[in-house]
Amino acid sequence: MRIDIITVVPDILKSPFEASILKRAIDKGIVEVHIHNLRDYTDKSYNQVDDYQFGGGAGMVLMIEPIDKCISTLKSQREYDEVIYMTPDGKTLNQKIANGLSLLNNVIILCGHYKGVDQRVRDLFVTKEISIGDYVLSGGELGAAVLCDTVIRLIPGVLNNETSALTDTFQDNLLAPPVYTRPADYKGHKVPDILLGGNFPEIETWREDQAYKRTEQLRPDLLED
Ligand code: ADE
Repeated sequence: MRIDIITVVPDILKSPFEASILKRAIDKGIVEVHIHNLRDYTDKSYNQVDDYQFGGGAGMVLMIEPIDKCISTLKSQREYDEVIYMTPDGKTLNQKIANGLSLLNNVIILCGHYKGVDQRVRDLFVTKEISIGDYVLSGGELGAAVLCDTVIRLIPGVLNNETSALTDTFQDNLLAPPVYTRPADYKGHKVPDILLGGNFPEIETWREDQAYKRTEQLRPDLLED
């Protein structure tokens, strides 16, 4: 998979891809992430990429021209499955959306900033709008990092133990069951006996039961659909 991220603050997007699972996925050649500074696509003085909004009002708006130039340059090199715009008024990201995106080959992610982008960018170029939750970030960059993390870990070969993504919380609309590691007794707080007995079918049944109970207690809304 190839991901091209368009931003006015590329520095925010460096560290998420320089450590841990995302770095390993890039090093293995399973995913390529390219970060494009929108300021490299403007002819204006001071590398201007934003301007005041028509009609008045506080806040700057990212202009269409540099975004058009950047997206057109990328599209002249390969076909893209989606052009995703990160915005608080997009569809709220969930595991189902992440699963779908993990199957794509080439994706552009556009990060908004300030008051957002000129509406014509959304009308003409954007194919999907995604929010990471009902709160406002200073820009789409942290949202893009969250989106990339959740999508990249689902691509086959990224996680060492491939089944581990399948048992994640949310994969069956259920929260994950509790997990324990050594010691089996910590200051009198014991690991459930069933996990120590080695009866794997029984352990599996216990885990399913725990996942259901946890979901019922903490996120009953997940059981509704
Ligand atoms: N940009 C600003 N707020 C955002 C959010 N909640 N999700 C995605 N992008 C954003």
